[in-house]
Amino acid sequence: MKRYVVVGTGGRSQMYLEALLTTHADVGHVVAFVDTNAVRMAHYDGLVARHGGAPVRHRAPEGFADLLRDERPDAVVVTSPDFTHAAYVVAALDAGVDVVCEKPLTIDADGLRAIVEAAERSTARLTVTFNYRYSPRNSTVRRLLQEGAVGEVTSVHFEWCLDTVHGADYFRRWHRRKENSGGLLVHKSTHHFDLVNWWLADVPVDVYARGGLRFYGAQNAARRGLGPRPELSRDGLGRDDPFALDLRSDPKLEALFLAGEHLDGYRRDRDVFSDGITIEDNLSVLVGYDRGASMAYTLTAHSPWEGYRVVFNGTGGRLELEVVERSHVEAAAVAAGAVPGKEAPVVDPSAAAETDGGGGPDLRPWGSRILLQPLWGRAVEVPIPTGAGAHGGGDAVLLDDVLRGAGDDPLHRPAGYLDGVRSVLVGVAANDSLASGRAVDLRSYGLPLHAGELERTA
Ligand SMILES: NC(=O)c1ccc[n+]([C@@H]2O[C@H](COP(=O)([O-])OP(=O)(O)OC[C@H]3O[C@@H](n4cnc5c(N)ncnc54)[C@H](O)[C@@H]3O)[C@@H](O)[C@H]2O)c1
Repeated sequence: MKRYVVVGTGGRSQMYLEALLTTHADVGHVVAFVDTNAVRMAHYDGLVARHGGAPVRHRAPEGFADLLRDERPDAVVVTSPDFTHAAYVVAALDAGVDVVCEKPLTIDADGLRAIVEAAERSTARLTVTFNYRYSPRNSTVRRLLQEGAVGEVTSVHFEWCLDTVHGADYFRRWHRRKENSGGLLVHKSTHHFDLVNWWLADVPVDVYARGGLRFYGAQNAARRGLGPRPELSRDGLGRDDPFALDLRSDPKLEALFLAGEHLDGYRRDRDVFSDGITIEDNLSVLVGYDRGASMAYTLTAHSPWEGYRVVFNGTGGRLELEVVERSHVEAAAVAAGAVPGKEAPVVDPSAAAETDGGGGPDLRPWGSRILLQPLWGRAVEVPIPTGAGAHGGGDAVLLDDVLRGAGDDPLHRPAGYLDGVRSVLVGVAANDSLASGRAVDLRSYGLPLHAGELERTA
């Protein structure tokens, strides 16, 4: 039975906690929480108690080293803000404690270097949880490419649309500052860059990026005549404002954030059009891969619908995946059943609104479709398997791999830290490219990209 410490008891930690209290209670339990905020740790005490778990110790970040020494946990789950990951990962690895780290592994090249060095000198294991790999549609794409369904992949076209509920939420809280999250190129795109590295089973080598803050932020609001607006939603944004967030509308937001904000000033309902945002909301990146393929990638954080499209051109044909996670957002986000902070739900949120507004049927129905078209042939639709639970059953498989230990997976879904390094480095290089206006060679960072390079960095 493994003894776990959970670092960062905010929104994301719940998935791990619940698993260790229910489906995976036979393999591990939580012995301590580490967080800057006592209210959030106490909130999860309630969850532990409801499931009959033993009381959990609470520690502030300064107590982490002592906790590792005194409590001797078997593993640490890191679900704190991105900029804090590297220090926790390095300290745990140096204490010989396994780490399960949420994406992104860290936010910059220095953090990556410290993590690689610690992982190389430690006997403990570092896992990065790339849950998107486990979603059945993404696993199906990997299987098809691995089987050579389109021959050798020559280029990729990947567009990711975050809508005005999910996308907007990154502009309310700690993510809005680049020094906290690395911007969306690191915080969010690490998922997408990892998917492509894994789909192609290839290694990125160079990056060129353009982008900026074009929609959110005080300047854009002023330019479009939207101001003046209050700093916080609660200070006068009408409930019908599409960017209003009422923390009392969701019990979890209220209990974790509204109830805890007096301790640390973490205000979860900051207006998306207020000052101080240093991340981008529109991004385009060109990535070159070792075996010659290239990718054109775009990320938009204010799209009217949420989902993605990815296309693989190959020597034998073309593979297309289109995913609609939310077809549209009602003017008042809460009215659409959308809770900020959560990704678009996996059940069809638009079902009730398919003919609303007198606009006729929804022309962008919720769902996923994979089309495979060989050269000189018609396109066929490839079925996507579904499983029970969140993300089409993908979360259950991920949690099994992470908490029970990964078996032999023909799709190679379990991600090691080198996968975390490769995907974050694309985002780091893209940020550097934004700053310099030049293309960036990933080898210039001196970090390992291929497994064989690890010894050379030691
Ligand atoms: N894989 C996914 O799909 C997914 C989804 C959501 C979040 N995440 C990741 O999970 C992590 C947490 O995100 P979240 O949405 O839960 O954020 P959150 O703001 O809801 O929670 C973060 C928690 O960390 C605490 N914290 C702040 N500074 C700390 C420190 N120095 N040490 C320890 N704790 C500290 C905060 O008080 C808060 O309780 C991020 O790295 C994010 O990228 C991953």
